[in-house]
Formats: sequence, C-alpha cells, structure tokens
Amino acid sequence: MGEQRANDVLTQADAVRARVDLGQVFNPSGPVRHRELLQGRVEEIARVLSAVSQPGQHVILFGERGVGKTSLASLTHEFWLDFARDSAGIIPLRYNCEPSDTFGTIWAHIAELLTDEYAKRNQPLPAGEAWLDLHAEITHEAASAHSVRRFLDLTNETNIIVIDEFDQVDDEDTVQQFASLIKALSDHLAPSTLILVGVADTVDDLIEDHASIDRATIQVSLPRMSKVESRSIIENAYAQIGLSTTPDLYDLMAGLAQGLPHYAHRMGQEAGFAAVERESILIDQQDVDRAVAMAIDHTQESIRMSYRLATTSPRKDALFDRVLLACALARSDELGYFAPSDIRKPLERITGKDYDYPQFARHLKQFVSLRRGEVFQVSGESRRKRYRFANPLLRPYAVLRGINEGVISADTVSEFDPEAETSADDEQSRLP
Ligand SMILES: Nc1ncnc2c1ncn2[C@@H]1O[C@H](COP(=O)(O)OP(=O)(O)OP(=O)(O)O)[C@@H](O)[C@H]1O
Ligand SMILES: [Mg+2]
Repeated sequence: MGEQRANDVLTQADAVRARVDLGQVFNPSGPVRHRELLQGRVEEIARVLSAVSQPGQHVILFGERGVGKTSLASLTHEFWLDFARDSAGIIPLRYNCEPSDTFGTIWAHIAELLTDEYAKRNQPLPAGEAWLDLHAEITHEAASAHSVRRFLDLTNETNIIVIDEFDQVDDEDTVQQFASLIKALSDHLAPSTLILVGVADTVDDLIEDHASIDRATIQVSLPRMSKVESRSIIENAYAQIGLSTTPDLYDLMAGLAQGLPHYAHRMGQEAGFAAVERESILIDQQDVDRAVAMAIDHTQESIRMSYRLATTSPRKDALFDRVLLACALARSDELGYFAPSDIRKPLERITGKDYDYPQFARHLKQFVSLRRGEVFQVSGESRRKRYRFANPLLRPYAVLRGINEGVISADTVSEFDPEAETSADDEQSRLP
C-alpha cells in the first residue's frame, strides 16, 4: 500500500511540470494544433482527404458551432502529408471570413498569405508578366473566379486552402462567385483544393443553389463527437503526461461534454489541475467536482451572459433555470432539436413534480424571444414545434451549473445520457 501510494504522488517539481503539460495537451479555447492530439473523426478525415487526392474535387465542411470543424480542416494538410509522395509542393493556407468580406477581399488576403508562405520557405515567386498582373489584380481586391483559377494554376503547387467561417459572409454575390470558382477549378482539374467551412445544418445553408457544384464537391457534415471520442480526448491527453483516472470518471467527464470537445478539454484539464494540486497523478471524484466549478468560472463570458439573461427572474418560483436545465438534459435529434414532450421527464426529476406542457410552454416561448436573449431556436408549426439551443455550448454549461448548485447529481446526467447502455427510458420500456 505504501509503495502504491509512493507511485501515485508527485514531487513538487513534478507537479509544476504536470501543470505545464496540462496546458499543452489540452486546449479548450482554440483549435487542435497537432495531429497527434486530434481524436476520432476517422471517417470525416478520410472523406476530406479523398477530395484532396482527386483533382477537381473540393470540400464543403459543415456542422454545429464548436464541434471541431476548424481543427479538422486546418490539419488536413498534415494528414495528407502521410500520403503525398512529395511534401515540397504542398502549401496550406487558411483564412477566417468576416461579415464584411467579399470575394475580392477574401482572395486579396489569401494572395498575401501565399506570398508570405513563399517568403518563409525562401522560395522564389512564380516568374512572368501573367503572374504579376494577376497578383496585382487580386491583391487590389478585384479577383474574379477566372483570375483566381489562373493565379493558383501558375503557382504550380498543391494549395490546400481553408476558407473558414464561410457562414459569416453576408454578400450573396460572394457565395455565387465561390460556386463559379469551384466549377472553374474543377473543369481545369486544378491540383489545388478548396475547403469551405462553416456553421450550418445543411450544405444548402452554406451555399444556396449548391446543385451546380454537387459533382465538384465532397460534402462532409461533422456531427457532435460520440462519447467514446470525447473520452479519448481526455484519456489520450492524460496518457501522454502520466495522469489517469477510473473508467467511471472518464465516462462522467466525457458525458458532461455532450459531444462538444471544448468541454472534454475543459473538464480533463481542470480535473488534472485539481489532482496535481494535491500532488497526485490519479484524478478522483473531488477533482472532477472541482473541475465542474472551474469549468463554470472559465466558460466564455458570452455563454454566461446568455444563461443569466435566459434564467433571471425576480420571482423565485418562475422556474426559468429549471426548465432550461431540463431542456439541456432532454433527448434531442442529430440537429439538437427536442420536443416539449422530451422535457417532461427531466423536469420531473429536477423538481420532483410532474409538470404538464401548458406549465412550461411560456418558458419555451420566452427562450425564443429577444427578451431572454433568443437562447432557443424553434422549428415546425404550432403543435409540432421543436426547440434547440441557439448556441450548443450553452447546453453543457446549464448542466454543469445544475450539478454545481446541487440541483441534479452526476447520476441524473447519466440517466438521460442518450449513449448510456441502459437509460431510464429503456429500462421502463422493458417493464411488462
Ligand atoms: N477531433 C478533436 N480531438 C480533440 N479535440 C478537438 C477535436 N476537435 C475539436 N477539438 C477541440 O474542440 C474545441 C473546438 O474546436 P474547433 O475550434 O475546431 O471547433 P469549430 O467547430 O471550428 O468551432 P466554431 O464553430 O466555434 O468555429 C477546441 O478546444 C479544440 O481543441
Ligand atoms: Mg471554427
């Protein structure tokens, strides 16, 4: 026993080291920077790479906010290097769109990034009048689909160009021009690959009238992570730095993430800090409890603000926080939507009372309203209305608060966990 303990404790110097390591293997607030840290997503990576490998094919990558689109897209070139015979000709470029962007401004930025990249590599820019003319045209924000196609062609490189936050672009013309560009690149079997990335439920939300480029694009929808994938984020990171915990606690932390990798990083990192502070390499239940509290504190201000706006009420019995929590626990479809009937059971578990739809209908209505910050989106008509969190990151936040305030326990969360092997629902449906 004494020896076992000796192995589990850290010296003070090791504890300092472990804190630094935890800062590196987890990154709750930015995309994954190293391919070894990107977990799961095997099928999606394969689909993106199949576009890179086929001249004339481009990618549209879409999904909910925060599911890991930027991470996957910006590591594409690293995955591709495993297959490419020659890494010399591959140039990865990434641009984040803004609402004011147009086709011209986007390509002016990318042309600059490209010349920077040549400079970094000590590589001479392509020679000739044609290149200089095209370069001037594009950097002056006057790009057309035709000029961009020729410009990329003259680089003689395999450019992997990620255009991120494409959903932010307001200008309808710009979207049209991107469709034309994809068609032009595809018709010329250009070796460069465009990867358009954005928050969207469907391709149509990102590029209306996408039918014209259907054959030239591989459309990849990135779903929320499975619990196994979330768990592997924490397990893999701990393994790299010599920390670990029990299967139950791995599952608990992964379940709390609700498929959003940000929270898997946050929980894993904060629980790690708590263990290391005790000079232990084994994360225990109290460390996870600490992590819940810390995750709440460290959640971005915008999420905390919308929680406050949605739930604050002068009346104690107004129930807004309880109903929001019930919604956060409710079973939802792959787009995050749930029906009012999905809320009843969690609400009963939270409050100990059986509420009927009319008693929480006004809460749902208000969550959609501006007054409560439009935290919900609604789809469907009258009796068939379905709701979802406008920002999916608010959902795990509401659950973490519920746990931290003692309104629910971690067991309640696993009871409504859609991926749990035996949930309360299944158990009941199996009763005679
Ligand atoms: N496959 C993965 N393995 C490990 N961590 C991941 C993975 N994908 C994403 N993450 C982590 O999840 C968080 C969100 O990732 P990312 O920024 O790539 O998502 P996103 O979909 O681009 O978000 P947004 O919609 O806000 O642009 C980051 O902390 C990132 O490090
Ligand atoms: Mg992103």
